[in-house]
Amino acid sequence: MQLKDPSLFKTQAFISGQWVDSDKGETFPVYNPATGELIAQVASVGLNETRRAINDAQTAMTSWRALPAKTRCDILERWYNLVLENVEDLALLMTAEQGKPLFESRGEIAYGASFIKWFAEEGKRVYGDIIPAASDRRSIAIKQPIGVVAAITPWNFPNAMITRKVAPALAVGCAMVLKPAAETPLSALALVELASRAGLPPGLFSVVPTRDASTVGSEMTLNPIVKKVTFTGSTQVGKLLMKQCADTVKRTSMELGGNAPVIVFDDADLDLAVAGALVAKYRNSGQTCICANRIIVQEGIYDAFVEKFVAAVNQFNIGNGLDDTTSHGPVITKKAAIDIHSKVQSAIAEGAVVASGGDFSELGECFYQPTVLTNVNDKMQVFQEEIFGPVAPIFKFTTEKEAISMANDTPFGLAAYFYTEHMGRSWRVSEALEYGMVGVNETAISSEVIPFGGVKESGQGREGSKYGLDDYLEIKYICMGGLQR
Ligand code: SIN
Repeated sequence: MQLKDPSLFKTQAFISGQWVDSDKGETFPVYNPATGELIAQVASVGLNETRRAINDAQTAMTSWRALPAKTRCDILERWYNLVLENVEDLALLMTAEQGKPLFESRGEIAYGASFIKWFAEEGKRVYGDIIPAASDRRSIAIKQPIGVVAAITPWNFPNAMITRKVAPALAVGCAMVLKPAAETPLSALALVELASRAGLPPGLFSVVPTRDASTVGSEMTLNPIVKKVTFTGSTQVGKLLMKQCADTVKRTSMELGGNAPVIVFDDADLDLAVAGALVAKYRNSGQTCICANRIIVQEGIYDAFVEKFVAAVNQFNIGNGLDDTTSHGPVITKKAAIDIHSKVQSAIAEGAVVASGGDFSELGECFYQPTVLTNVNDKMQVFQEEIFGPVAPIFKFTTEKEAISMANDTPFGLAAYFYTEHMGRSWRVSEALEYGMVGVNETAISSEVIPFGGVKESGQGREGSKYGLDDYLEIKYICMGGLQR
């Protein structure tokens, strides 16, 4: 990995403005999933370092929250510029540790940076209210930073899932201690280095990489100084963190698992639907929470859809993400590939037909063939569970009512998509889908300006948009009486 700026390659923890080894000198390995090559040994911090970072965050926040919003936001602007100036290095680091193709990494750096820019602007617009009162007093609602925030972020988007939490937190005057995923700490460490170069005062944003997620996560959820925990990851871990947060009644934001349907009605524009479903399914090799998990196609258009979809999948160029010709990279670990294969095998055992792929790839132990399954049904694991890999089961339905019922037949509710040219149906189905986000004739729904988040067991809270500030703010009511004295 030849970085233009090799000093962005960091392997220590960043605590209270200092690069430090772990107290016990412990490290953990980071591998390139495409090659299996060891690319770094990163400091693995424990309880003491996490506690130190939290204590120092509280101290640092005292003067940070007192600054004018504009001063805080100017530092975020500088950070945004530095991220964009270093996009190539950040993308290289990301592809090396995460596996996604370089073009996707570059896209994620720009996407991640857009949250910094957005919240640098929105942070200046934290308005309160003066509430009309009938009596001789004035009622005022002001918004204040919630306090020290702990964040736990995933490996599938090693940059953007961080910036969309830390940028609003810093913009409104909070401090953050972040635990990045053990698979992808290098992107987080490079990001915090750039934040520090932008002039962010020490202690406001500490990064505590670890292989001991349970010790660090417990401290983050149990420490009374931490007022809010924000997490992106699995529903299973999210539930555990919420339980742990209950003892100190912390606020939580949870962006958890999904089971997104893409419904294609007979009246859809077929080419648009195929293109949208391909992106929704195979972006990041199927490893996003909003990936199409179930493609549900009406019977009149089913065969034509499958034919076009499979033809496109067969054109994919699987390989090492560092190779510019690669369209799709590996999955994150060998274990992930094995889990994906077991879901495919279970579907085949229950009658699914493999229309493409269906097996490991000979490119390496983290590679799985882009797969399409037909003759699938709602009793199969591939209907009920998040696949988190490049496998597209294509289900068949007859009526609109049946499609909605299939789409909602899951405990998850993050993103759903559907394709139709019928205006009435666009409204009806949008309103009937039990999801936090709905794409109509569109699957590329993410951006910094929209409220990203789910309902049901997909989580709570919204990231991005004007609503993304709310999760880092408390409302305080001030009653002013005695006005006539
Ligand atoms: C995710 O997988 O949760 C993030 C996807 C996105 O922001 O588009």
